[in-house]
Amino acid sequence: METGRDLVIAIDGPAASGKSTVAIELARRLGLSLVDSGSMYRAVTLVALEREVPFDAEDPLREVAEWVSANFRMETPVDDAPRVFLADREVTDEIRSSEVGKAVSPVSAVPGVRDEMVRLQRCLGGPGGAVVEGRDIGTAVFPEAPLKVFLEAPADERSCRRFEELRGKGGNATLEEVEAEIAKRDSIDSSREHSPLSRAPDALLIDTSGIGVGDVVDAIISALRERGLIS
Ligand code: CDP
Repeated sequence: METGRDLVIAIDGPAASGKSTVAIELARRLGLSLVDSGSMYRAVTLVALEREVPFDAEDPLREVAEWVSANFRMETPVDDAPRVFLADREVTDEIRSSEVGKAVSPVSAVPGVRDEMVRLQRCLGGPGGAVVEGRDIGTAVFPEAPLKVFLEAPADERSCRRFEELRGKGGNATLEEVEAEIAKRDSIDSSREHSPLSRAPDALLIDTSGIGVGDVVDAIISALRERGLIS
């Protein structure tokens, strides 16, 4: 499949809407790199928790974000899930802990944190093209992206998916706890002042309920072909 040299595909959507799985598969099929912005905000949150930085302390949080920006690294093995590192330390599992999940939305609402992360996302996603996924990619990070996709699914289905995913990894959170965390994150992410979660008016809307990852990726590839972005 031929892709344009600097093709950026923006994929946004609420928690557990399927963004990560779809973005990984799409990047593999198109031979593009993957930029998972949620992992970056989660990494900032992990370090802020470890350094006991309060979530309303803008300057210290910006410093944490600067440090993460300089040390963040992601490996995307062909046959395995992506791995996230801060310098030489692997944090793939830690950034998915429930402590980080509970704190990530307040930390991500801090403007200084967002400025730093957006700079990193533009740096990683620009040259060579990429599939970039998050909450504000089509609206704020890459508003000129030639294809923007917004994935959605009803909250109860998203909670069930995340519950299954966590159980598969040996987690012991109840469905009720997962529902509460997702509802809270969606609410903070959508209502924050600085680049909230929202669908760009020109984004392709895909409801992922009851559809497999392969079908969602096929729909995105068809849209790319229709627009002449790949051949
Ligand atoms: O995988 P999941 O949908 O649970 O979330 P994620 O993509 O890992 O993102 C975790 C959190 O990071 C979100 O709930 C947002 O608070 C924040 N985030 C953001 O503010 N902006 C982005 N572009 C990506 C994530």
